[in-house]
Amino acid sequence: MERKKVTPVDIQAMKKQGKKITLLTAYDYPTAILEDRAGIDIILVGDSLAMTVLGYENTLPVTMDEMISHTRAVARGAKFSLILGDMPFGSYNTSEKDAIYNASRFMKEGGADAVKLEGGATVKETVRAIVRAGIPVMGHIGLTPQMMSMLGGFKVQGKDAQAAQKIIDDALALEEAGAFSVLLEAVPDLITKRVTERLRVPTIGVGAGKYCDGQGLVVHDILGLFDRFTPKLSKRYVNLSELMLKAFHSYIEEVAAVQFPTDAHSFHIDAKELNKLE
Ligand code: KIV
Repeated sequence: MERKKVTPVDIQAMKKQGKKITLLTAYDYPTAILEDRAGIDIILVGDSLAMTVLGYENTLPVTMDEMISHTRAVARGAKFSLILGDMPFGSYNTSEKDAIYNASRFMKEGGADAVKLEGGATVKETVRAIVRAGIPVMGHIGLTPQMMSMLGGFKVQGKDAQAAQKIIDDALALEEAGAFSVLLEAVPDLITKRVTERLRVPTIGVGAGKYCDGQGLVVHDILGLFDRFTPKLSKRYVNLSELMLKAFHSYIEEVAAVQFPTDAHSFHIDAKELNKLE
């Protein structure tokens, strides 16, 4: 079957059809090519790149310009997956005008198909304004890393009835504001189940159990490329750090032992030409 570009409407249709949605982060061209080729539905250019790629302690320092540059690289690599630009800290909370301006930059300069932003009922008017400007928005509730200082660290959210009710209310507020989908991070599975049953739009879970309409993970975690810590919510499918380290050691050893380069990796001049040299 001929593959078509995934749109927010397709993502919504998947919920109705009972087809699980897949989301992975990517921050560069080669990873985007492979995720696209593998058939990932949504590629999120997450602000997690602040930590996984740029080496910051948390996601707060990453700028709009850095996010746009990485989104553009991903858009050059992915032909079919929906490309989701993650609005960084400070890019949508200052005013609705700033939010629309920055969301538009993801589309115009970054080549994104939609944007994601963190927050529930408190950002619903921002979501409404961006959607009215013609830009599809995915909400992000539960653990919202940009609010880490307020939440007191990377903690599961919604563990008591009051906090769980807030998650349900936040999800409903985002849907009402026009979000095409809602991502729930680090939320107890039975709360996600309630949210998924209540919403018409699809839920994507990141550490939110099996009842979501789709699942999302950070690519560096599943590839074993980020070892500062391994979140419980993730699964490491391969240890690329180990493979890369092995390759780097082999290279160093072969250069030291003059085993690399061999003739096969070298360029040669014809002996006749060589003899003409003084
Ligand atoms: O920035 C990111 O990678 C995210 C995921 C955790 C969903 O928001």
